Amino acid sequence: MTQPNPAGLEDVVAGTSEICFIDGKEGRLLYRGYDVRDLAEHASFEEVVYLLWHGRLPNRAQLDAFVQQLRSVQALPGQVLDLIQRIPPATHPMAALRTAVSYLGTLDPDQEDQSQEANLRRATRLVAQFPTLVAAIERVRQGKEPVAPRRDLPLAANFLYMLRGEEPSPLHAEVMNVALVLHADHELNASTFAARVVAATLSDMYSAITAAVGALKGPLHGGANEQVMRTLLAIGSPDKAEAWVKEALAAKKRIMGFGHRVYKTEDPRATILRRLSRKVAEAAGDTRWFEISQAVEKVVAAEKGLYPNVDFYSASTYYVMGIPFELYTPIFAVSRISGWTAHVLEQFANNRLIRPRAEYTGPTRREWVPLDQR
Ligand code: ACO
Repeated sequence: MTQPNPAGLEDVVAGTSEICFIDGKEGRLLYRGYDVRDLAEHASFEEVVYLLWHGRLPNRAQLDAFVQQLRSVQALPGQVLDLIQRIPPATHPMAALRTAVSYLGTLDPDQEDQSQEANLRRATRLVAQFPTLVAAIERVRQGKEPVAPRRDLPLAANFLYMLRGEEPSPLHAEVMNVALVLHADHELNASTFAARVVAATLSDMYSAITAAVGALKGPLHGGANEQVMRTLLAIGSPDKAEAWVKEALAAKKRIMGFGHRVYKTEDPRATILRRLSRKVAEAAGDTRWFEISQAVEKVVAAEKGLYPNVDFYSASTYYVMGIPFELYTPIFAVSRISGWTAHVLEQFANNRLIRPRAEYTGPTRREWVPLDQR
């Protein structure tokens, strides 16, 4: 690790965790010791959630029981559905999600119980309800009725079913599962750190998750995937990519979906998402957005030496799947709720208040001046 840089806490080690390991030089990402590339190839999202929380892969009986637990709590309380109907229609789905999560906290059946068992039940409800919540927010935004979750579909397929009102193709279900696996955790990223800071005050899990959703919403973090799609749409065709990117860089603008605080090589998730983007594009017979993405990647590499991050190829993947771009960051949250809750559980299990210091750069002592003499 290089010398820590207090600006933005770069390379500052702010705690210990057994959940996720990133090698930013080699471009490796492990969840509880398992390479994310193996998990993306073999695991269901539900297995990954279990792994993040319990530190080991479930056996078949454990996985079946866990999936049943999730399915038993995936429906939303009626009050939350009423709240979603009352949110102003122009509200961004991430803002609606943040409000809905906070409201879920007021309906928590474990209200007074702060035991780890109660927190695991909260985490289970949150992971199960996030897809239902995001799908309902989108349906209402489109003036449609929310679709109730099904108890016979895996979480990724169920999410697409609730969004569209019809079962997804096997390819779309598989791609969504891989996307959820890839976004599940990423060490002390901004939203997870926010969640841990809140948890470390011994506040409740819903407060920690509400803070995390707020942090993920920003375009320098999870909000970048929506901005990537806006960029691709603004460029419009592969032959316009070079001029567009050069002009944006000349104006000192950031190209969304590129660069990373930790990876100094290609983000392993981007490698997998690039493949998925091509796969769904070819299956749909619509490779335009993939081709623009490739053209942008080439120019950004040549001009700035930057690599795509997780947000870059997820945008074109979701777009070809017919998902509105305002949902890309909420989909990130549907996955990252697993990592957030894992970190909050880990924080509660071995807590100490997180309270860093600032290097003071303001004026030294000043003399008091009465109001009418200023
Ligand atoms: N486009 C253009 N230039 C960039 C970009 C980019 N996407 N990313 C970094 N740079 C440049 C900066 O301008 C700076 O150049 P300079 O030294 O000539 O001024 C240099 O690279 C270092 O940038 P920093 O901002 O110091 O890097 P930092 O580690 O603070 O930022 C971040 C990381 C926020 C991800 C940045 O790369 C960025 O803004 N990317 C675009 C937004 C994005 O894709 N965010 C998603 C990240 S992944 C995630 O959170 C899920």
